[in-house]
Amino acid sequence: MKNTIIWESPSNIALIKYWGKMGVQLPCNPSLSMSLKASVSRFELTYSPKKDGEKDLVYLFEGKENKAFEEKLSRFIDSVANDVPCVRKYQLKISSSNTFPHSAGIASSASAMSALSLCLCSMQEAIDEMEMPKDFFFKKASEMARLGSGSASRSLFGQYAIWGDMEGLSNSSNYYAIPYENTIHPTFQDLQDTILMIDSVPKKVSSTAGHGLMKNHPYADARFQQARQNISDLMVVLEEGDFNKFADIVENEALSLHGLMMSSNPSYTLLKPNTLVAIERIKNFREQTQTPLCFTLDAGPNIHLLYPKSKEISIQDFIKQELIELLEDGKYIQDGMGNGPNRIK
Ligand code: PMV
Repeated sequence: MKNTIIWESPSNIALIKYWGKMGVQLPCNPSLSMSLKASVSRFELTYSPKKDGEKDLVYLFEGKENKAFEEKLSRFIDSVANDVPCVRKYQLKISSSNTFPHSAGIASSASAMSALSLCLCSMQEAIDEMEMPKDFFFKKASEMARLGSGSASRSLFGQYAIWGDMEGLSNSSNYYAIPYENTIHPTFQDLQDTILMIDSVPKKVSSTAGHGLMKNHPYADARFQQARQNISDLMVVLEEGDFNKFADIVENEALSLHGLMMSSNPSYTLLKPNTLVAIERIKNFREQTQTPLCFTLDAGPNIHLLYPKSKEISIQDFIKQELIELLEDGKYIQDGMGNGPNRIK
């Protein structure tokens, strides 16, 4: 007997950043992200009863072996075996692919770990011949995905998601993310994200190491406090629609994240000279034309340019006139807010 399950799950970009963790992959502050539409991982899981001597997991990335990622997935599957006990009895064959290039400033761990968690939850349902209630299913998948990569917990939901305990938001949790259910102003309902490829060299300090450096960081407490203030302010802005306030908060979060890296011990920088030139041009363009656009950054030098869909044409012109010369091979990726994961099979 052989069965196949396929899920596609998106990456997400944090507007309020998770940086610093405690316990078993629990965040030191709540974070809020937007799910992407075009940047997705597709995971195909085929399972069959395990025979003696057979490997537990066979993994292919875009048709090719990738031992390093196979080991990572194998450790992840071990870590969730209590949640989905079926994995102990079956051999898993997994193949995955991404719609976006590596080291482009799009978190592939978020889309991958969320897609795999969904496959494993669906497999458990199939083996047990039952269907979990939808809310429970996604909460469980989010909790599992968190163990693979903290930010992956937020990729289970479309539009905006929040991960981490938040005062005044009773269903929020450090263990899993929740969909953002407050009213969203039309300005922020179909936000576009153009990812500007400044540099695609793999980053020299991993996010895991970066989170670790928050342990003895002299600004840690102030940072966690700042993130709490920023997330509650952002929730008001998302409802009221003031793009300038949105830009203030989102850019403050992006630069604070990189400020923390620069002030860690040891310190490091992931930004490149062209990241800073592009940031200056984006700010000048906003000031001079009053166009609603702003930037955010992930843990890398590439820029996520955020703006409402209604401004697409003028912003595409601005990119072509002022930003493209700063980009690696003139490359950028067009994305925007998405509606969350999709089961394909
Ligand atoms: O999910 P991790 O452990 O790779 O950490 C992600 C951290 C940031 O991407 C920098 C911020 C975030 O909240 O996504």
